[in-house]
Amino acid sequence: MENRIGTRPIIIAIDGPAASGKSTTAKIVAGKLGYTYIDTGAMYRSVTLRVLRSGLLDALRRDAGQVAGLLRDLTIEFRGDRVFLDGEDVSEAIRENLVSREVSFVSSLKPVRDRLLELQQSMGAARGVVMDGRDIGTVVFPDAELKIFLVADPRERARRRHAELAKKGGSATVPTVEELEEEIRQRDREDEQRTHAPLKRHPDAVVVDTSILTIEEQVAQVYGLAVKVLEG
Ligand code: DC
Repeated sequence: MENRIGTRPIIIAIDGPAASGKSTTAKIVAGKLGYTYIDTGAMYRSVTLRVLRSGLLDALRRDAGQVAGLLRDLTIEFRGDRVFLDGEDVSEAIRENLVSREVSFVSSLKPVRDRLLELQQSMGAARGVVMDGRDIGTVVFPDAELKIFLVADPRERARRRHAELAKKGGSATVPTVEELEEEIRQRDREDEQRTHAPLKRHPDAVVVDTSILTIEEQVAQVYGLAVKVLEG
């Protein structure tokens, strides 16, 4: 680890669509800089898990206002690379299929976004963070010193997700690459078309297309840009 805490710490915002390589890149870059990595997708997933466990999902589809009660007393914390919802380690539970299916809906609700925006801004207030998501450069930290927008071809993203699921194994049957590509395209549409904080590139964000890059190459590009900002 190359600790650059001695220099003025910055915020690195990494946005982009599902499975574009954000979390892998963000985690490694944060480690190299001695920064904290904050996975905001995991925060939206945690709220979704809370909604699902409450049994109020259908009620929220009719009346989104009811979500306010579920946001009261909400605590989300990162400890190392584990995420804790109300003190419980939910790192695995938030990756379940049901959560993945409903997270776009839950994250489109204004009270949910407002609450998580507040939490994310306080988590990054001291700077020295790499934060990834959909709206970090546009809404959460428009003043981030470095903004990255990661993109990749949907078929390539589906292939990566497929390889990841196949490696994990378990009893569940792994969806085909075609099925995963359709899911990814659907989620892209939902994230790009929602009213509040849709997925879009900040005009200052540097676009990195990871379709033909290895993880090492994408890390090297983002890290190189960070070093330039830190030394500039
Ligand atoms: O990064 P991910 O696939 O785990 O994110 C899950 C969902 O959370 C994603 O489909 C949209 C939502 N999300 C969001 O709306 N804003 C963010 N900053 C991060 C995620």
